Amino acid sequence: MYSEYQHLIDLSDYPVEWWNGIADLAVDIRKNPEKYAHECDGKIMATLFYEPSTRTQMSFQTAMLRLGGRIIGFDNPATSSVSKGETLKDTTKIVSSYSDVLVIRHPVSGAAKAAALTAGCPVINAGDGGHLHPTQTLTDLVTLKVEKGRLDNLTIGLCGDLIYGRTVHSLCKAMSCFNNNKFVLISTPELKLPSYVKDIILANGCTFEEVSSLDEVIGTLDVLYMTRIQKERFASEEEYLSQKDTYILDTKKMTHAKYDLVVLHPLPRVDEITNEVDRDPRALYFKQAKNGVFARMALIMTIIKNQNPSEILKGRVYEGISCSNPHCITHSETYLPKSFRSNGDTLLECEYCDERKLI
Ligand code: NCD
Repeated sequence: MYSEYQHLIDLSDYPVEWWNGIADLAVDIRKNPEKYAHECDGKIMATLFYEPSTRTQMSFQTAMLRLGGRIIGFDNPATSSVSKGETLKDTTKIVSSYSDVLVIRHPVSGAAKAAALTAGCPVINAGDGGHLHPTQTLTDLVTLKVEKGRLDNLTIGLCGDLIYGRTVHSLCKAMSCFNNNKFVLISTPELKLPSYVKDIILANGCTFEEVSSLDEVIGTLDVLYMTRIQKERFASEEEYLSQKDTYILDTKKMTHAKYDLVVLHPLPRVDEITNEVDRDPRALYFKQAKNGVFARMALIMTIIKNQNPSEILKGRVYEGISCSNPHCITHSETYLPKSFRSNGDTLLECEYCDERKLI
């Protein structure tokens, strides 16, 4: 299924050179922001935030304003026609007819791709459920370029909620495209990285190890990506409470880390990094959040000029087969074609949320 526009649903929609180039452009914008002040004069960006957000929403808005454009949108679906039962398809179709680029955050996996199917302008995925968050990854890449000077030959520890952490999924997919990166996946057995992401790391020629102790590995890391345990994605409060506070980065642990470790966190932080760590020069999460504006400026000005058609659904519908992920958009927006990619003779992958299914 084709769309008239090229969207950013996942960084892997584009060649590495494209999105690495966006990160380079962001580094230049960071140095010379005034050079880009009129790039989007007369353009309108719509933000549809169906889920809470501070940084992502405001950095997108700031980015468009700094490029000379204007913004419309909602951050509380209860005050829009969504509360009257309007489908994602209709909301997207209408709002995209008012705007030049549409940014969507949604609690359900695959929602951004679903929105792109009917949008009349490019769509940017600002986080779809526990699935992907490509613009956070652009932010992370800019931070690593600036602070580490490279995206390759890094030992990257990812700690906490690796199962639902969409920032982690997008970051692993992106960083495994660079040479000799090693991933140290630090989580409890319940919160391990989904196997489809692990397979992508391996297919891209990188390696990973799975461990449960942060103390044991912190001294080996070049980058430590801490994450919040995402209460809102758990089936019950009990399950969340059993995972909460498993990993807390404090100044004692930092004494065992390399002198040039980079500590990142997509934020918001709850209590997985103590406030004392903020004073450590290796704690770069606030700088990282600031880089989000430059990353999004680079993305918006590029994608708004991107008026080529793109193939959104590349697989096909299999008679009687639906996605087994209860958090997939195909279950709430039932008009969507239940499209799967085939991976071998017996494995199907949902095109919206990447959930795998044996047939
Ligand atoms: C993250 C998200 O929304 O996925 N935050 C963000 O966008 N900066 C991480 C989180 O909510 O824990």
